[in-house]
Amino acid sequence: MNKRFAVLHGVNLDALDRRPPEHYGGLSLTELENRIERFARELEIEVSFFQTNHEGEYVEELHRSSGYADGLLLNPGAWTHYAWALRDALEIAGLPAVEVHLSDVKAREGFRGHSVISEVCVATVAGLGPDGYRDALQRLKEAM
Ligand code: DQA
Repeated sequence: MNKRFAVLHGVNLDALDRRPPEHYGGLSLTELENRIERFARELEIEVSFFQTNHEGEYVEELHRSSGYADGLLLNPGAWTHYAWALRDALEIAGLPAVEVHLSDVKAREGFRGHSVISEVCVATVAGLGPDGYRDALQRLKEAM
């Protein structure tokens, strides 16, 4: 049976097409998800998607995730840099996870250089735009 990966988009990812195109490429979230679907089909992975602008909902989705997924692709947006509750929730989920960012977070403002989840993820992919999600799916598949 194909692996099932949940792609959890965090805060402000719903407005991707209204954010600086030099960092995010100008795609809408739906367009990004269509690309991820394509990558997943090529890799014979099943994907599901979730997005919220509410940290508690993201935490609760992490709690639920082991009920329907084998692994996680996480782009928590700005929560990445300070929302420690996400790290704890990821430990509770107990699933392998890859952190992914469209932009090159290390090359931007200082506050984006730190991630609260990277230590509990099997890999981090950043700065590759939408194609980074293909790498992230591949890395997660290899980690299973
Ligand atoms: C982001 C990078 C974060 O620093 C930022 O707050 C985002 C998106 C990315 O995909 O590059 O919202 O996670």
